Amino acid sequence: MVIGFVQTKGGTGKSTLAVNTAFSRTMHRQFDSIALVELDSQGTLRNWWAERQEMGYNSGHVSFHHISSSQKEVFQQGIKAISAHNDLMVMDIPGEGTGKLHTRFACAFCDLVIIPLRTSTNDENAFMNNLYPIIKQIIRAAPEKRAHFFVLPVFVHPRVSPRKCYEYFDEILPVYVSCLEAVYPSRAVYENFNRQGLNLHEYSKLVENNKKNRQQVTRAIEDIENISQTIITVSEKNRF
Ligand SMILES: Nc1ncnc2c1ncn2[C@@H]1O[C@H](COP(=O)(O)OP(=O)(O)OP(=O)(O)O)[C@@H](O)[C@H]1O
Ligand SMILES: [Mg+2]
Repeated sequence: MVIGFVQTKGGTGKSTLAVNTAFSRTMHRQFDSIALVELDSQGTLRNWWAERQEMGYNSGHVSFHHISSSQKEVFQQGIKAISAHNDLMVMDIPGEGTGKLHTRFACAFCDLVIIPLRTSTNDENAFMNNLYPIIKQIIRAAPEKRAHFFVLPVFVHPRVSPRKCYEYFDEILPVYVSCLEAVYPSRAVYENFNRQGLNLHEYSKLVENNKKNRQQVTRAIEDIENISQTIITVSEKNRF
């Protein structure tokens, strides 16, 4: 299976979601080999992975790949080759810096495209103006991709009801884009867990003796497992 977190707007949680989904227990139970792929020239994940390696953490079944070539052939062949060698591929797909053609190819390659979106007029307009035209192009060229695009409500206040978010997005989203029945809450732990190359589970062990941090990280792990399980359920339902 191939999933991609995509946004043309920056800072919506793509990289954090890609990392945590790739390292989730839910995905590990379903897939033996998982490739985390960064298509961003910025290299946020590449730097984090280098730190992991320096610290000597064991990534087990998860491998990391960075593709930022502007050459169409290199970019596309890279994606195809990684996908062929892994049971699950999780891509971090940016809009800016990668170019529309690359974004379109990467999204079209996915079985499931997840669009992290805040409930903010600015973000919704940016989505409609930048990413939605790309989605329409993909569907025009490959109508069977119609049911593959999902918004994930992100940076949701932990006390806001997820149901309210789904209803809100169902109301405003255009045709061919649905709201995933999961939310990605705003939590300080997501800003801190990845210091020195740690993943969420390793960080959780580190803060075991600190009650406040432990609660935060436990909730974050629940968020991620729930998002991962929802992705699997949707993909099974649609037989991707
Ligand atoms: N659920 C969350 N709650 C609070 N902060 C978060 C959450 N997820 C990510 N962050 C923080 O928000 C910032 C943006 O997250 P991230 O880098 O994952 O987004 P991105 O979409 O990949 O950004 P870019 O467009 O720069 O690649 C980071 O500082 C990250 O630590
Ligand atoms: Mg990023």
